[in-house]
Amino acid sequence: MSDTQRHPFLHGLSKHRGAPPTVVVIFGASGDLTARKLIPAVYNLGVDGLLPADFYLVGYGRKPIPDDEFRGLAAEAIKEFSRRELVPAVWDRLAARTSYVAGGYDERPAFDRLAQHLAEIEKQLGRPLQTLFYISTPPSVFAPIIANLGASGLAARYVGEPHQAKVIVEKPFGKDLASARALNATLRGVFEEHQVYRIDHYLGKETVQDLLVQRFANAIFEPLWNRNFIDNVQITVAEEVGVGSRGGYYEQSGALRDMIQNHTMQLLALTAMEPPVSLGAESIRDEKVKLLKAIQPLDLGPNGDVARAQYGAGMTGGRKVRGYLEEEGIAANSATETYAALRLSINNWRWQGVPFYLRSGKRMARRVSEIAINFKRPPGTLFAAGDEFDLAANTLSFQIQPDEGLGVILNAKVPGLETRTQPVKMSFRYATTFGSNTPEAYERLVLDAMVGDGTLFIRGDETEASWRLCTPVLEAWAAAGPQGMDTYPAGSWGPPAAETLLARNGHHWR
Ligand code: NDP
Ligand code: BG6
Repeated sequence: MSDTQRHPFLHGLSKHRGAPPTVVVIFGASGDLTARKLIPAVYNLGVDGLLPADFYLVGYGRKPIPDDEFRGLAAEAIKEFSRRELVPAVWDRLAARTSYVAGGYDERPAFDRLAQHLAEIEKQLGRPLQTLFYISTPPSVFAPIIANLGASGLAARYVGEPHQAKVIVEKPFGKDLASARALNATLRGVFEEHQVYRIDHYLGKETVQDLLVQRFANAIFEPLWNRNFIDNVQITVAEEVGVGSRGGYYEQSGALRDMIQNHTMQLLALTAMEPPVSLGAESIRDEKVKLLKAIQPLDLGPNGDVARAQYGAGMTGGRKVRGYLEEEGIAANSATETYAALRLSINNWRWQGVPFYLRSGKRMARRVSEIAINFKRPPGTLFAAGDEFDLAANTLSFQIQPDEGLGVILNAKVPGLETRTQPVKMSFRYATTFGSNTPEAYERLVLDAMVGDGTLFIRGDETEASWRLCTPVLEAWAAAGPQGMDTYPAGSWGPPAAETLLARNGHHWR
């Protein structure tokens, strides 16, 4: 059965970006994410002419904000955070259709007021609108919002029709397997799965989408993409920033929940999944789930598959920075990891015996997200590494950010009258080929949700598969508390334990 037969309103990755007349309702509209990402994303879609002609934006939150003030805040957000300048002609049109509704997230009558507000917009317009609810609040109020969308009938707007209501749910989606299951159950009680868009903004990044194109639109990779040719795979999502002002959130989270369970596992799934039968949302997500389910439970013993650490004081970007335990809002005896590394084994025909190493940390040497495919060495019959030949194993690296691009390490002959070799890098860089100023992840994702394309969102079973793998690690770390927590100097590449994780297989981080 094809995707569109299974879910008639769920399209796959397509060229057609036309969204039906839509009203986007943002819960948590006075928040940080709304200002930094969501309003600029909507604005830039407007600049590109990708918003439907009948497009409305409604902010919702507990704080009473007059419509005019909300429009003013939105304009400020665009000036400060948009990748493109505020063009009055575009903004004025959008501003005229922007409004705000005040109400609590667990206040049932407030949702009736919201329903009334939407009905008034439609009455003025004279036609129905698709409603896209964007839940951009702290996770503590995800469930009450969803319940009230159900109880007020808002979730069932135009049910069964192409413009039926949809909901985007921000991360974190749960804090472990049990809470993710509970949140899925809450959603299922109110929405059909094809109305639900669980966001992972990494999937909206250009380079992450390009992974699919590189893998499946080029014939040279697939024959090599398996245990016969690949020695190991390393996925790094390193940040230079520390926890900043988000200590309160981060203390409840840590690197495994904040980055590995979602962003890094998504990179892994796209790298290692089987070719999907089509570009349909369900085909791609079916393959990702299959892959996540094939990952073996982790060995949590002393020489096992995991490493964790906190950053200590150090240097980043040429300045001294304090350690995690000295950051604002962090407990003096905090057991929250700011760095996590995993060694994963995928038990399927393609990958058996190929270790996949994942790492993510804050306050690392530099900001870099990269997927490195390290190939096996050629038989050393002609060129053997040693004094005479400087040889590297071939590596294909997807540079997710910054300096987005693709690189291949090859061995080349050094020009001269004797035969000497040297590793060289062949590169493709987005900025050089396509120029910069590419759309931000949230632009793509908001548009996709409006259009009804769920490909770059996480399905319910997918998030559970990922939590199933991570939850035992979180439980073991919670039981151990700060005992066994490593440290690494801010500005370094992580703790020695993460090196040992690879050294046991004769590998080292690139
Ligand atoms: P904020 O802390 O800024 O909260 C958003 C809004 O929610 C606030 O303006 C406030 O609005 C309301 N709110 C805040 N605290 C509470 C509370 N305890 N109970 C009820 N309502 C509350 O969050 P962000 O905008 O930073 O993040 C929103 C969501 O997006 C979160 O789930 C976060 O994990 C996710 N996210 C955020 C990122 C970011 O960079 N900020 C990055 C990736 C994901 P009011 O008082 O008006 O109701
Ligand atoms: C968010 C995490 O999901 O991703 C943050 O909560 C992290 O802690 C951020 O800094 C990184 O995103 P990006 O797009 O800057 O790599």
